[in-house]
Amino acid sequence: MSGLDRRSALKGAGATAAALAAAPLLGGTPKTPSPHSLAQAKGLRFGSATAALDPLGGSVSNPRYAALLEAEVGLLVPENEMKWQALRPGPGAFAFEPFDRIAAYAKARGMALRGHTLLWHRDQWMPAWMKDYDFGVRPAASAERMLRAHIEAVTARYGSQIHSFDVVNETVMPEDGSLAQTVLSRAMGGTEPLVDLAFHVARERLPGAQLVYNDYMGWEPGNEAHRAGVLRLLEGFRKRGVPVDALGLQSHLIVEGKARPQERAWRGFIDAVTAMGYALLITEFDVRGNGLSAAVAKRDAEVAAIGKAYLDLMLSYPQLRDVLVWGLCNRYSWLRSFEPRKDGKETRGCLYDDAFRPVPLRAAIAAAFAAAPKRTG
Ligand code: XIL
Repeated sequence: MSGLDRRSALKGAGATAAALAAAPLLGGTPKTPSPHSLAQAKGLRFGSATAALDPLGGSVSNPRYAALLEAEVGLLVPENEMKWQALRPGPGAFAFEPFDRIAAYAKARGMALRGHTLLWHRDQWMPAWMKDYDFGVRPAASAERMLRAHIEAVTARYGSQIHSFDVVNETVMPEDGSLAQTVLSRAMGGTEPLVDLAFHVARERLPGAQLVYNDYMGWEPGNEAHRAGVLRLLEGFRKRGVPVDALGLQSHLIVEGKARPQERAWRGFIDAVTAMGYALLITEFDVRGNGLSAAVAKRDAEVAAIGKAYLDLMLSYPQLRDVLVWGLCNRYSWLRSFEPRKDGKETRGCLYDDAFRPVPLRAAIAAAFAAAPKRTG
């Protein structure tokens, strides 16, 4: 049975968290309803990031990882393949092949696809050539041409398959909520004109697509300025008539020390976002933290508990319809290299362990979907 058939066969099947946690393995994947089938029964979608090419990584070219994707998710997002660093080897050049691989894979299996991202607005994440690029005597016009050409090319190639795009990623600085400045925004004469343009061009090209601003402000203490900055940006979009449909909540949950999530402030933030008419997506969920126990079983239980609390809260908002994790398997997670634990122990922030066995977080996510109010319309 293919992943898709299995998904529809199990669609709507009820399952308790305990049954899911105790699920025996069947050919490497658990014999329980997939998170996606449970999500689907509630009018939600469950997805994951994937890479394209690495046969030994978290990519569609690794048969073991692909089997997990096919069993568990209905929606894919490229982990890196749509970013400028991957797509743009030079100022006039495009390298579409890696992302083409993901797009073809998704199409062949009837999986939906999200776009991430048309503009990751940080110099650090732009291609090296951008740093020394000569924008000439009319830099604003030249920057506008460059951004337009990029968005037009990507939307022309993938727009019929992708209905939701992270148009702009991370343009609010977490320290003080100000807007990031980059080589591109300086050439353009400001960040607002640049990010506004990105959304306008995306809307011109894809009138029916969901256009998303995506960022990592979270519910942990220390995100106050970041949340306030994102609210100001979203208010500004509304005032200026910029076509933005949704806020993407990256949701890389962090547990540090004994700090507790600021649940009330977080609800206030989400309420303010939805009051402006924005939809919500969880775009990059995973759990990390030096505040979690070193012992594996205890840590897995803590990860599951924090993940469940967050998803329960978020799923109470009917504006949330898509939940995506940033990879399915600890073994390939970006957390291993980017956010290693200070004690040197392995990170365990995803649904599957290094041996492809589900960890309690998978059951927690399934239980959150099973308990979620049904979306209508
Ligand atoms: C990360 C990828 O997982 C890494 O492989 C890459 O080296 C850097 O980017 N926020 C985002 C994602 O919006 O694009 C990032 O992905 C993780 C944080």
